Amino acid sequence: MKAKNYEAWEVLEADYPADDPMEERLKFLLRYAILAPSGPNTQPWKFAIHDGSISVFADLSRSLPFVDPSNRTLYMSVGCAIANLAVTGAHFGFTPSVSYFPRGQESDLVAEVQLLPGGQSPDKLPDDLFPQIQRRHTTKDRYENATIEPSILRELEKSINLPGIYLSYLDDKDSKVKMADLVSRAHQIQLAKKEFRHNLGEWLRNNWTAEPDGMPLYTFGVPDAVSLGFPAAFKEFDLSRAVIYRDSGLIHDCSTLAVLTTDQDDKLTWTQCGFALEKLLLRATSYDVRASFFSQPIGLADLREELKAQINRGHPQLLFSLGMAKPMRPSPRRPLEDVIIKPP
Ligand SMILES: Cc1cc2nc3c(=O)[nH]c(=O)nc-3n(C[C@H](O)[C@H](O)[C@H](O)COP(=O)(O)O)c2cc1C
Repeated sequence: MKAKNYEAWEVLEADYPADDPMEERLKFLLRYAILAPSGPNTQPWKFAIHDGSISVFADLSRSLPFVDPSNRTLYMSVGCAIANLAVTGAHFGFTPSVSYFPRGQESDLVAEVQLLPGGQSPDKLPDDLFPQIQRRHTTKDRYENATIEPSILRELEKSINLPGIYLSYLDDKDSKVKMADLVSRAHQIQLAKKEFRHNLGEWLRNNWTAEPDGMPLYTFGVPDAVSLGFPAAFKEFDLSRAVIYRDSGLIHDCSTLAVLTTDQDDKLTWTQCGFALEKLLLRATSYDVRASFFSQPIGLADLREELKAQINRGHPQLLFSLGMAKPMRPSPRRPLEDVIIKPP
């Protein structure tokens, strides 16, 4: 029997309540929205269902003040959930239309997603992305020794088709060495700080976790027995050497590194960047290509500037690696009921 905190992944397309009232149909679409990735699996979203549209809110009570002080990662994660919602809406025959920050960027209402019955937007949201929502997961352990076809990389680049958002690949050895060094320095700076370790450590989970959020350590390849004491040890001690060792493998053994950059650098941009990222991840999943993320250098102003100078194409939002990897056990999700609120 599936543990309760993994039940969200069991959603069946055949259960779509096609003949039920609109509210029930929109609620069903959200079952797929909540399968989106979020750093570090905080699932920082809330939804309110209206007649024909869904309000998507940022749940700022789930922000990490020492790890993600600007909430960049939080808004990107909400953007990922909006992408899943739009892809799912299109799949079930709606035309999704996303209006970002309709009350301005100071409001926690991130988007109003209108779902008009009928019609499709096949150019923008190809239907073959939908089955990838349940197959996608982040790779945090290791890649297989295989390179990604150049045609697939071009395909992934094409999925970033929003103005002001760019994807750059760094696949040469020299760039990998530079990026591994940047990520290592970021870990050294951040993991030396107790507040940072405590803040991130709150979201680490042992391998038998019954919690609906956070990162089970099996996703990082940590053995069961070690996982029991790991969250407490992570908070107490500077484990940067082990973390750097793991991330270096994910950088040197990947097929290519990638950086998402943007012209602007605000909540709207972060959300749209998350939307573009999730579309890319779903497309990647269709080729069994997986991603691993390195948010650390982006979270430190000096290192972000270094990365900016290296890419020279706007503000860096996310550094990640791409490679072939085996499917693995998913991470927990909060029950849908916990993230649906009454329309304010
Ligand atoms: C914007 C963003 C940034 C992320 N940054 C990191 C990161 O720096 N390190 C990491 O190990 N995972 C990172 N992740 C991956 C999350 O930890 C992962 O999505 C979450 O644990 C849920 O797991 P899943 O993606 O396999 O469903 C990030 C995810 C998102 C959406």
